[in-house]
Amino acid sequence: MKTSLRNDRFLRALRRQNVDRTPVWMMRQAGRYLPEYRASRAKAGDFMSLCRNPELCCEVTLQPLDRYALDTAILFSDILTIPDAMGLGLRFVEGEGPVFDRPVRSLDAIRSLAAPDPEVELRYVMDAVRTIRGALGDRMPLIGFSGSPWTLATYMVEGRGGHDFAVIKKLMIDEPAALDAMLETLVQSVTSYLTAQHAAGADALMVFDTWGGVLHPDAFVRFSLEPMRRIVEALGRSCPGVPVILFTKNGGAHLERMADTGCTALGVDWTTSLADARRRVGARVALQGNLDPVTLFARPDRIREETARVLADFGHGPGHVFNLGHGILPQTPPDHAAAMIEALHALSPAYHRPV
Ligand code: CP3
Repeated sequence: MKTSLRNDRFLRALRRQNVDRTPVWMMRQAGRYLPEYRASRAKAGDFMSLCRNPELCCEVTLQPLDRYALDTAILFSDILTIPDAMGLGLRFVEGEGPVFDRPVRSLDAIRSLAAPDPEVELRYVMDAVRTIRGALGDRMPLIGFSGSPWTLATYMVEGRGGHDFAVIKKLMIDEPAALDAMLETLVQSVTSYLTAQHAAGADALMVFDTWGGVLHPDAFVRFSLEPMRRIVEALGRSCPGVPVILFTKNGGAHLERMADTGCTALGVDWTTSLADARRRVGARVALQGNLDPVTLFARPDRIREETARVLADFGHGPGHVFNLGHGILPQTPPDHAAAMIEALHALSPAYHRPV
């Protein structure tokens, strides 16, 4: 058994237990909007070198925690470590984002994909988890994460960030069984990757399904939801009791089916009202979200009002983890994130007092 954490608000809220105030963290909380992050990345040379250096990963993971009163750390890494470990040749191109030198473009290429061993090809990620866990001690929890099989497949097949997703959607329509086979390899990869992150010290696990929302509902169920459901089911056996958060960007239409997977919590973006989400699934899962990250470009007094609006939208009682609805943007003034967190601390205790 792990020693108990001094701050367990985040884990309690995920389990819909009572808390003194709403816990908060920000997707991409360690990132380019922080000058100290940019300095660490410069020390590493580039983003992937930063990801491959456990000491520097630990340094940047802790940076937002030293600056703001956040309630959880999240491993500093990327979802594209799995396809990189499969040999696809990942590069980050300035101004364009991630690019693969060898995208998956044939049935033979799909057949030759193999699930990486997390303690071999992805050992640098597990070393980062162990280093961060050691540095955090009992201060607060640590989130481990992965991309969803569908979202990883979009990058692997398209070879870069998608726009219309024409290449993978053509594969989906022409060769659905081949796409199923590729997603099956990714289910195994993600399951063993997350299981190893938990064994290395991650207290909660999150699956980022950034591109599930670009699919027709039937295609979403087969190619995005079903692989995630199988991962949740397998994690229930490999790491019993560990909270699992599923986040499909633009997935507001699918919340009931997502809650049916047996996950602990759902991430919700700003295109869905938390009140509506809670009415639909709130008795079964916790909800995480959902301030539009662009709100942090506005004036601090408006940021406070918008933070109040998100809290009121979820309403009274446990089961809410405050977050942005997607990653914090690189142009965000760091003081504006502070305004959001201070407002959350001031306003949220009222939502947890007995009525
Ligand atoms: O939340 C955190 O603080 C943990 C770290 C984290 C990163 N990426 C660091 C990162 C997490 C959880 C991710 C997930 C991720 N990566 C997703 C899913 C979440 C989402 O945003 O929808 C996706 C789609 C990726 C793939 C990826 N990695 C993209 C599209 C980019 C941006 C490329 C660009 O140039 O804008 C990255 C790079 C990346 N991952 C950065 C960070 C801090 C910026 C890299 C840099 O320093 O230049």
